[in-house]
Amino acid sequence: MRVLIIGTGNMGRAIAIRLAGGGNELTLFDIDAAKPEAIASELGGTRPGGARIAIAETPSEAVPASDVVILASSYAANLEVARMLGAELEGKIVIDISNPLNERFDDLVTDPGSSAAETIRATLPKGARFVKAFNTTFAGTLVAGQVAGQPLDVFIAGDDGDARRSVAALVRSGGLNAVDVGGLQRARQLEALGFLGIILQGHLGTGFMSGWKLLMPEQG
Ligand SMILES: NC(=O)c1ccc[n+]([C@@H]2O[C@H](COP(=O)([O-])OP(=O)(O)OC[C@H]3O[C@@H](n4cnc5c(N)ncnc54)[C@H](OP(=O)(O)O)[C@@H]3O)[C@@H](O)[C@H]2O)c1
Repeated sequence: MRVLIIGTGNMGRAIAIRLAGGGNELTLFDIDAAKPEAIASELGGTRPGGARIAIAETPSEAVPASDVVILASSYAANLEVARMLGAELEGKIVIDISNPLNERFDDLVTDPGSSAAETIRATLPKGARFVKAFNTTFAGTLVAGQVAGQPLDVFIAGDDGDARRSVAALVRSGGLNAVDVGGLQRARQLEALGFLGIILQGHLGTGFMSGWKLLMPEQG
């Protein structure tokens, strides 16, 4: 798939590593141009197996040729980018990965009964195919692709079933396990789970290298 990643900090780089390994075509944008350049030189190239990675000077220039747009900055920045791109995202799969933490990192800024994902979705045209994913996987674990030998679970929520299935295929292309959790309202629980995961790091001393895993019954 052709994937545009907007925001190439810890998570943008980590997602790029997984998706490049899956043979996807990546375009990277960040307000700090040095970050996508560093990732492109880390992952790109013409050697066999080298990923095809482009750098965009603006998000708008890269949206038309992208199947998937990943909003990989803070909640506030993702909201701003979604508002700015607006109608340009019509027909595109748009993924929000944010955990809307407050400044003290001790609570969420969203109201109970809402979520960052639903707030961002409300700014987009009806035809944008909006999905929440990757908010419960820490950047370091995405770079590793696993925790304790187990592939990471990536939880996916969204009201467009075809978009959820496409994102699941994208996730699997990167060697990760996709868990479809249903409609976009489930983003409320995913953001709470992401927040709990963050809080637990100090408590458990796991250094942002733990992961959430859904254990499945054996198929009979
Ligand atoms: N880190 C994790 O393990 C983790 C796990 C799950 C979910 N998340 C979520 O993932 C998101 C990114 O986290 P992160 O740790 O990767 O943060 P980060 O390292 O700060 O990366 C965000 C990047 O986006 C850039 N940026 C800011 N505004 C932008 C804009 N308008 N357009 C393009 N780029 C912009 C930032 O630049 P500046 O630094 O110059 O502002 C920075 O390079 C957050 O919403 C977070 O809640 C993080």
